[in-house]
Amino acid sequence: MEVTAWLKASASAPGKIILTGEHFVVYGEPALVVALDRKVTVKASGRSDLSIRVASDLGLSGIFEGTSFTAGEGGADCERFLEPVRIAAEATLVKTGSRSGLNIEVQSELPLGAGLGSSSATSVATVAAVAKLLDARLDQSDIAELALAAERFVHVNPSGVDPAVSTYGGLILYKQGQGIKRLQLAARLPLVIGNTGLTRSTGRLVSLVRERRDRWPNVVDPLIKLAGILTTNATAALETGNLKEFGELMDVDQGLLVAIGVSNEALDRLIYAARRVNALGAKLTGAGGGGCMIALCTEGTQPSIAEAIRGAGGEPITAATSEAGVQAWLEN
Ligand code: PMV
Repeated sequence: MEVTAWLKASASAPGKIILTGEHFVVYGEPALVVALDRKVTVKASGRSDLSIRVASDLGLSGIFEGTSFTAGEGGADCERFLEPVRIAAEATLVKTGSRSGLNIEVQSELPLGAGLGSSSATSVATVAAVAKLLDARLDQSDIAELALAAERFVHVNPSGVDPAVSTYGGLILYKQGQGIKRLQLAARLPLVIGNTGLTRSTGRLVSLVRERRDRWPNVVDPLIKLAGILTTNATAALETGNLKEFGELMDVDQGLLVAIGVSNEALDRLIYAARRVNALGAKLTGAGGGGCMIALCTEGTQPSIAEAIRGAGGEPITAATSEAGVQAWLEN
């Protein structure tokens, strides 16, 4: 397939929050995830040469030509941020049997390295924008699969939950190797996200859990099993609109995440601040070690919970959940 010279295509993909089951999903248990109304948008166009230029609104840019990289804005260190975009774009070219140079521009409404799925949303939107540019019809499972190739660069052995929710949107139950089950929310989910402001590496935290499991398999394996049961119960609570029960299970899940060693003082401070002002439940979301926590609120208590999170040193983010997954279109 070839790129028409004047053509430009764009795609957007949502960020996400993991409601229950992070980390345990790496060991085959289900995770409950929901897409956010904050997204990453990627614009793709062709080039007259075969290189791939990536630029991000975070002030990073560079050109990949074969095996070499020339940094533009952001210095040499920007390569590791831009490389997953190149991998996602190239995987799409290979999948569609195409050869073309590309210009790729990334615009993000999501904080980096905070557990809200910015890297996956970028990969998913890149795959969809490049496929649209090539007029190639990829189905959603192809898009999630190609984006996962880029996630493997970001951290070894990802479960695939992040690209899945970014592709399909809405509320989904994800199990590695089995794909997704789409769920319907029986009630609105009034959430407040609290960002500790500490960036962390998902890969390092996944390795930390693996080391603990290797040392204490007969302790950690039952926790993993328990987390799977918890997510099944939490799914039933959400499907029947029982937010009180769901909140209680979020608190239990946080206990399991503490037990496997991925919470920390900054997260705990925000979690307890939210619970003190009557959040129905509060827990870390994503890999932990910093990044974000989430608090489930009763109607009308979002402002006071956001204030409590701010008072405890976090940045409250009010983002709604979203049904929209990846969307691609041609630019005029
Ligand atoms: O990308 P994050 O930081 O939201 O974490 C991804 C969730 C993990 O379960 C910790 C890792 C994975 O691959 O599922």
